[in-house]
Amino acid sequence: MIRESQHRLLGVSGIRVSSLGVGTNRWAQGRNDEAVFQVFQSLVDAGVNFFDTAEIYTRGRSERLLGACLQRYHRPVVIASKFAPLPTRLSGRQFMNALDASLNCLGVQTIDLYYIHFPYTLLSIEKLMDLMAQAVEAGKIRAVGVSNFNAKQMRRAATRLAHHHIPMAANQVRYNLIHRQPEENGVLEACRELNVALVAYRPLERGRLKSNTVPGASSSGSPSSTGWKGKAPSKEENVQKILQTIAQQRGKSVSQVALNWLLRRDEHVIPIPGTTSERHALEIADTLSWELNDDEFAAIDQASSPWKH
Ligand SMILES: NC(=O)c1ccc[n+]([C@@H]2O[C@H](COP(=O)([O-])OP(=O)(O)OC[C@H]3O[C@@H](n4cnc5c(N)ncnc54)[C@H](OP(=O)(O)O)[C@@H]3O)[C@@H](O)[C@H]2O)c1
Repeated sequence: MIRESQHRLLGVSGIRVSSLGVGTNRWAQGRNDEAVFQVFQSLVDAGVNFFDTAEIYTRGRSERLLGACLQRYHRPVVIASKFAPLPTRLSGRQFMNALDASLNCLGVQTIDLYYIHFPYTLLSIEKLMDLMAQAVEAGKIRAVGVSNFNAKQMRRAATRLAHHHIPMAANQVRYNLIHRQPEENGVLEACRELNVALVAYRPLERGRLKSNTVPGASSSGSPSSTGWKGKAPSKEENVQKILQTIAQQRGKSVSQVALNWLLRRDEHVIPIPGTTSERHALEIADTLSWELNDDEFAAIDQASSPWKH
């Protein structure tokens, strides 16, 4: 079970979640819903309580399957979903209809955290935030988030929300060891300054940060006869190698090392790896049972620093 200290806050919204959440964008892609129920149960039994979905994931089936999990297990969890500001959606009514549809799919009266999925729309950020404030006032959502917003867009959104006395809870952006742009483009800094959670999507770069993906790395982490023999290792191979080495020393997996690095990077970061496998779900939960030490953190940081830019 996850320790008390392994929880993080969604900004100053008052909502506390396990330091790692789980993404569900591939849930309901296959036909085996029972396997997903098992994943959900294993995660909540292990103390992971933060689930990320969106109306556009698997055309609403991700939301519906997550809703079915809630109905089946009646466990207290924190649910995040997202409004997609598609080019044809320009009215407040369309926003509310989409939110109502998500509430219906999930089978809940309130969504804990509701994001604007991306900033590319003819609607102004101010208008979007006014709609979010209406949704909070109507009791349909508890906290407001944005996703894929840059630092300037985040600040604009936070300023508008402040007019409504609502804090921005989170900005969900892509962040992992081979995509460290949030550290350089001002998003991580803005999250710290505004006290907003940085929810890290694709924390495993879609499964690229996992065991046995180093071209040519042997079990000792050194180049094998079939690998990058004679060539300098690529930037990604350098990251993979140090992850493999630490994983082996710790008796953990590469994915766990990669997730733990993100957790240690900043207290505002909450990674949300996506999984459809019970084995991976248990591994994700176990990530919270141990931490990297200073030397391990620094070695990974150095190997992946070219990815900051
Ligand atoms: N806001 C946005 O625009 C946006 C965009 C993309 C994604 N997201 C959110 O972010 C979540 C995560 O992103 P993602 O799923 O695209 O990428 P990801 O989390 O980086 O990687 C998922 C991949 O990693 C594998 N995996 C998970 N845990 C593992 C483990 N312990 N060991 C080895 N492999 C493991 C999964 O396979 P298995 O299924 O077999 O476990 C899957 O292939 C999504 O589910 C979604 O909720 C948001």
